[in-house]
Amino acid sequence: MIDVRDLTKHYAAAAGLRSLLPGRGREVTRAVEGVSFAIGAGEVLGLVGESGSGKSTTGRLLVGLETPTSGSMRIDGTDSAAARARDKKAFHRQVQMIFQDPYGALNPQHTVEDLVGRPLLYQGVRDRAAIAKSVRAVLAEVGLTPAESYLGKHPHQLSGGQRQRVCIARAIILEPRFLVADEPVSMLDVSIKWDIVRLLKRLARQRGIAMLYITHDLATVGAVCDRLAIMYRGRIVETGPVEQVMAAPADPYTRTLIAAIPSADPDAVRVRPPVLVQGLG
Ligand SMILES: Nc1ncnc2c1ncn2[C@@H]1O[C@H](COP(=O)(O)OP(=O)(O)OP(=O)(O)O)[C@@H](O)[C@H]1O
Ligand SMILES: [Mg+2]
Repeated sequence: MIDVRDLTKHYAAAAGLRSLLPGRGREVTRAVEGVSFAIGAGEVLGLVGESGSGKSTTGRLLVGLETPTSGSMRIDGTDSAAARARDKKAFHRQVQMIFQDPYGALNPQHTVEDLVGRPLLYQGVRDRAAIAKSVRAVLAEVGLTPAESYLGKHPHQLSGGQRQRVCIARAIILEPRFLVADEPVSMLDVSIKWDIVRLLKRLARQRGIAMLYITHDLATVGAVCDRLAIMYRGRIVETGPVEQVMAAPADPYTRTLIAAIPSADPDAVRVRPPVLVQGLG
């Protein structure tokens, strides 16, 4: 359903003193370099890699927050750049994104009812009763029950997990076909991480949403992803079913990533990760 082909994004490197050196004039950062993958309806693809490997850039390109240097994405066979140019609102009904920081993503002045109903208003829905009904239904679906008790609340009155549920509710209210979740649980307490991860997986399955789950944290991928794509310096170096990649990684970089996962068992013998992944957090 989602078909990404040769996606590439180059940025002009920051113009520092180095750019004045002979031959340095046209340096570029190759943030994303020839990335291709497909995601089916109801399927979750995990995009994993160390900091700076190009995961967020890939996500932003796919939801139209940035323009690719080259390459394309198709949704059900339709080129999404063309679709977005033709009708931006229709594109946003199909493609939504969830970010890492649920607090920064929510306007503190607005109530939960406003925040979650806003995409419908933006789409031109004027029937207040219909909006209120959709908001209640979607709040219940993300586990904010009873929905009535959340409608009038402001973001600061909610926990981090509840705020991320509000972001998820807002992202699914237009019934998107494709959802990009960029590190959706990395700012949450361990205790709620798993609930949110399971919620995302359930929503993908029940609503037939194709999901790109971006993370640098391999610990959660088993609970949410069907397949993994491992990203390294802008390129995808390995893809496969999550169990297969975790149990028998083919690529040396994937092996170092997996070796760096903290073990739940302190006595387990660990492979010492090479310098390559130090600073991964
Ligand atoms: N707007 C921009 N202008 C210039 N360079 C950028 C821009 N956005 C990203 N980059 C560069 O592109 C590369 C990929 O960045 P990106 O944010 O996609 O990585 P990431 O895998 O999401 O990392 P993290 O795990 O830290 O979120 C980095 O080298 C980054 O510095
Ligand atoms: Mg990122």
